[in-house]
Amino acid sequence: MRKKVTVVGAGNVGANCALRIANKELADVVLVDIMEGVPQGKGLDLLESGPVEGYDVMVTGANDYEPTANSDIVVITAGFPRKPGMSRDDLLMANYEIVKNATEQAVKYSPNAILILVTNPLDAMCWVAQQVSQFSKNRVIGMAGVLDTARYRTFVALELGVSVESISALVLGGHGDTMVPLPRLTTIGGIPLPELLPQDRIDAIVDRTRNGGAEIVKYLKTGSAYYAPSAATVEMVESILKDKKKVLPCAVCLEGEYGLDGLFVGVPVKLGVNGVEKVYTVELNDEEKAQLEKSAAAVRELIEVLKQKTGA
Ligand code: NAI
Ligand code: 2OP
Repeated sequence: MRKKVTVVGAGNVGANCALRIANKELADVVLVDIMEGVPQGKGLDLLESGPVEGYDVMVTGANDYEPTANSDIVVITAGFPRKPGMSRDDLLMANYEIVKNATEQAVKYSPNAILILVTNPLDAMCWVAQQVSQFSKNRVIGMAGVLDTARYRTFVALELGVSVESISALVLGGHGDTMVPLPRLTTIGGIPLPELLPQDRIDAIVDRTRNGGAEIVKYLKTGSAYYAPSAATVEMVESILKDKKKVLPCAVCLEGEYGLDGLFVGVPVKLGVNGVEKVYTVELNDEEKAQLEKSAAAVRELIEVLKQKTGA
C-alpha cells in the first residue's frame, strides 16, 4: 500500500515539500491550509505535473483534516513568519495557536503518525506538538539541523571550491542565532576542516551559518527561505518512509542527553520507520558545551513564556 504524508500549510515551504515528495514518489500527499481553494489548487497543479515528471502519486488539497486520515507522517509548516512590529513573543503566541490546532486535528485522524515540525520558533513548536499530541518522543521531530547543516556545508564547499558532497558536518542546538556548528567535527573527504582553513575563515563561515535564515529574508524581503527548508524536510521524510536510518541533526526531546531534560534541541539522531530510533551523544569540549547550553537556554526561555501565557 502507498504511504501517505499530510503537509499542513500549503504556503512556500509546504507546497515545495509536496512537490519534492511527489517528485521522489515517496507517498500520496494531502495538503491542508485554511486558505479556501489554495491547497486544492496547488494539489491539483502538482497532480497534473505527474504525467510530465513521471510520478504516479496522488496529490490532493483540503481545508479540513478528514482527508488526512491514516497518514504515516504529518509535516506541520502552517504559521506566520515574523512581521514588522511583531515581537518574538507575539509570533510565538500566534504560531502556538496554529500549531496547537493543527496538531489536535492531525492526531485525531492519524493517531499513529510521525509528526515533523517546521513552523517557527521551531524548537518551541515541537514542544507544543508534543504536549498536545502526547506522542512518544520518537514520533515528534523538528526540522532545523538538516537545513542549518546544509547551509554550513554549502559555505564550506564554496570557500574551499570542493563538492558539497565531500563535506560531512554537524550543527547542534536550537534553530536560532545561538545554533552550534561544530568545525572540529567537520571533514572534507575525511580531512578535518581546521587543517584546511585558518580560524578566521572558519569563524566567518560559522557566523554566516548562524545568520543563514536572515540572509535569505534580507534578499526576499516578504518571506523566508523555502527551497532548502523543503529539501531538508523531505530528506527526513524519505529516511523515515524508506527506513533508511540516516543520521541527521533533528530537534528532539532530550531526556538527560547533553545534560538537558524536557527540551527540544537539535542533536544527531537515527531516523527510520519508527521515527527517532537513536539519539547520539557527541563528546563536546568545554567551549562547545557552553555554546550548546546557551542555545538551550534560548529555547527554555520560549517554553517558559508559553507556560506562563497558556498555563500549559
Ligand atoms: P507561508 O506564509 O508561505 O505559508 C504558511 C501557510 O500556513 C499559509 O499558506 C497559511 O495560509 C497557512 N496557515 C496559517 N494558519 C494555518 C492553519 N491554522 N492551518 C493550516 N494552515 C495555516 O510561510 P512559509 O514560508 O511556508 O513558512 C512556514 C513556517 O515555516 C514559518 O513559521 C517559517 O518561519 C517556518 N520555517 C521554518 C524553517 C525551519 O528551519 N524550521 C525553515 C523555513 C521556514
Ligand atoms: C530559516 O532558517 C526562516 O527558519 C527559517 O530560513
